[in-house]
Amino acid sequence: MPYVRASKKPEGFPTRGKTASNRLRRVDNFILLYEPSLLTRTDGPFADSMFVDLGYGFDARTTLESASRFRRVNPNLKILGVEIDRERVNAALPFADEKTFFRLGGFNLPLKEEEHVRLIRAFNVLRQYEERDFAPAYERLAEYVLPGGLMIEGTSTPYGQLWSANLARRMEGGTPALSGIEGWRMEALIFSTNFRLGFDAEEFQTILPKNLIHRVVPGEPIHDFFEAWKRCTAETSATKNYGARQWFIAAAERLAERGYAVAIQRKWLTRGYLIWRPEG
Ligand SMILES: C[S@@+](CC[C@H](N)C(=O)[O-])C[C@H]1O[C@@H](n2cnc3c(N)ncnc32)[C@H](O)[C@@H]1O
Repeated sequence: MPYVRASKKPEGFPTRGKTASNRLRRVDNFILLYEPSLLTRTDGPFADSMFVDLGYGFDARTTLESASRFRRVNPNLKILGVEIDRERVNAALPFADEKTFFRLGGFNLPLKEEEHVRLIRAFNVLRQYEERDFAPAYERLAEYVLPGGLMIEGTSTPYGQLWSANLARRMEGGTPALSGIEGWRMEALIFSTNFRLGFDAEEFQTILPKNLIHRVVPGEPIHDFFEAWKRCTAETSATKNYGARQWFIAAAERLAERGYAVAIQRKWLTRGYLIWRPEG
């Protein structure tokens, strides 16, 4: 069971607070499509559990946008925005209400007794840390998430046209962590594009999550994946005459033919989401 830690000093450090309206719209839309039941489930401790937006930035706009998106499916959803920078918490507090909270905190989430977490979104937060900070941050966050809950953690371009993210599932205590990160199963790596920048697989390399961005080197699975994805885009380049979306779809289908565990359902590909499950 997640527990509330005694330590109150926020873990982590303040980083640049840049954000933008609707930057994370496609992240929320992804969750709404991937697992809407996570937002609505009311069994046991999930009933009152929260969505946590970790590191929302210089103001709370993306948290408030998510609140309105997610509350279309669950009007009672509790939402907690967490910032390690006090001024940013103060800037958000005027927008707090009986189910929307803003608190000072870090990777050791500032939860109260009996509060639980169903979903964490941490976007453009770990990017500014070192790779060695990645696993400890995930392991600390795992302490607060209900088994079966999710974390989506990633990096986007400044206006959210492109992003990539780890989708991590909180496991039951005691289940061996294949990912090497205690508490989590790395369920998928997601690549997202709204096609406004066309399609170039290589561009996703620059916005990989922190655990992968320095690993695009021979011998690493993420390197092989990008090599294969680029080969598949080259082989399917005739489809670009029909637009970036068709090209993206054709390249993903080719990747699947080559044995990569990518989701080829149209509901993902036509919307610009490539879901890869490195663990198959
Ligand atoms: C670039 S902003 C991202 C804002 C928003 N999530 C977005 O993607 O547009 C990163 C924010 O994360 C905050 N931050 C960094 N480390 C943190 C931590 N350990 N706990 C809470 N917030 C943190 C920083 O203070 C900063 O405001």
